[in-house]
Amino acid sequence: MTKFNEEVLSRRTFAIISHPDAGKTTLTEKLLLFGGAIRDAGTVKGKKTGKFATSDWMEIEKQRGISVTSSVMQFDYDGFRVNILDTPGHQDFSEDTYRTLTAVDSAVMIIDSAKGIEEQTLKLFKVCRMRGIPIFTFINKLDREGRTPLELLAELEEVLGIESYPMNWPIGMGKEFLGIYDRHHNRIEQFRVEEEQKFVSLNEDGEIDGVHPLKDSPLYEQTLEEIMLLNEAGNSFSAERVSDGDLIPVFFGSALTNFGVQTFLESYLEFAPVPQARNSTTGKIDPLSTDFSGFIFKIQANMNPAHRDRIAFLRICSGKFERGMTVTLSRTGKPIKLAQSTQFMADDRSTVNEAVAGDIIGLYDPGTYQIGDTIVTGKDQFEYERLPQFTPELFVRVTAKNVMKQKHFHKGIQQLVQEGAIQLFKTVKTEEYLLGAVGQLQFEVFEHRMRNEYNVEVNMERVGSKIARWIENEDINENLSNSRSLLVHDRYDKKAFLFENDFALRWFQEKNPEIKLYNPMDRS
Ligand code: G4P
Repeated sequence: MTKFNEEVLSRRTFAIISHPDAGKTTLTEKLLLFGGAIRDAGTVKGKKTGKFATSDWMEIEKQRGISVTSSVMQFDYDGFRVNILDTPGHQDFSEDTYRTLTAVDSAVMIIDSAKGIEEQTLKLFKVCRMRGIPIFTFINKLDREGRTPLELLAELEEVLGIESYPMNWPIGMGKEFLGIYDRHHNRIEQFRVEEEQKFVSLNEDGEIDGVHPLKDSPLYEQTLEEIMLLNEAGNSFSAERVSDGDLIPVFFGSALTNFGVQTFLESYLEFAPVPQARNSTTGKIDPLSTDFSGFIFKIQANMNPAHRDRIAFLRICSGKFERGMTVTLSRTGKPIKLAQSTQFMADDRSTVNEAVAGDIIGLYDPGTYQIGDTIVTGKDQFEYERLPQFTPELFVRVTAKNVMKQKHFHKGIQQLVQEGAIQLFKTVKTEEYLLGAVGQLQFEVFEHRMRNEYNVEVNMERVGSKIARWIENEDINENLSNSRSLLVHDRYDKKAFLFENDFALRWFQEKNPEIKLYNPMDRS
């Protein structure tokens, strides 16, 4: 195998999906500690300690205390190079959060054992499923009282509609948490014991041989019974089904006490997919092809207000990146020299000279790129498949505060929409501008950028609509439009209805059964 092939095949690129507070930051930090990428616990948590306050990142993000430096983190472990992509949550939830999932080969889903599957996890899970991304689950906080593992497993399969395979199983929980029964390694990993006693190997029947204090605990007996149940009635393990995204491996642990994290990491690396081939206008592109190519999935604007620079995040899909190389931007056919590039680490930015398929790099962007852009080298010019459209759930009516600024207002909106920062709709009858987003932050970024880059103050007024549904047959009676079911054009001139709520949607469907509505996120 060539060195290049070896390098590509060592890449594992994933995002963590979870609901706020499930333990994403804590787990990420532990993973980075294993990889030696950070030395001190607390580095990733800089967002809370204010460590990034002096950095020159986008002002609005500083105000909100979001650390963009942790957007992409990279570390080496046991011959693998691991790239973790952050999926911002809470108030920071945006289309970027979804789009990040187009740039990974797998996802790690963290679930709080007391809470089970929560709203944001479910949203992100659906996007992963839609894209066929394999998911690995880490059920966290076993050091606290939570729901029983059987209950959690049942919920996982029911709510997500996918089969699972517990790679390990907890022995007790909370104050009585004794450790995990590791089915994959046929051993028990004990919680809070001396390092040399931590692992207890199991015999062929999956039990401890000889005398051992664990055998005196009724929890051990109970675990053996549950394991027997899983072996007999549960799903069987299949590495192939895992990599096809049809079977979710489930791990139990406690990120805070760093328990089960290393075992999780090692098993994850064993089964997680290598960089995958991606669809393009000329068919699938092999990541091992030596022609360099990639696509932009995120643009971080205004990192430095003095220079108005932006960073375009590129997922490398094939070949090798070398600093200073000349590439072609497929959308325009124009050559670009990639002189300034950035690699992301937990607490600093550094210049990257080389990177291969699977890696993420940041490209200096003076306004050249749009989200979804493909860049290529080599004779074949192609474009990677269009990034999916995500259904907005928040809408505002937008106007310029100063009517004299109409020209700037239109130009700003046009560019920001094209760049993928926000979605634009126009009401069919009155031609008013509505903006759609999946998270509030998108509106704030929009407002900030309109002011700073286009010198326009905007008014934004919340619209009651929350549910957007596109229309199958475009030939529609415009009189059906009212405040509860507002008829709009999207930016590709496709018609959609914005409904006030679920009730309005159902009512509309009952009244107009001949009108076929769809949610783009249930398709592609
Ligand atoms: P997030 O990034 O997913 O939002 O979650 P984060 O890691 O910040 O964790 C949320 C809270 O849950 C934190 O407590 C964290 O210490 C706690 N936590 C994470 N993993 C575990 C675990 O395995 N066991 C227990 N018991 N707690 C865990 P906090 O009090 O909100 O924050 P902090 O003051 O500790 O930073």
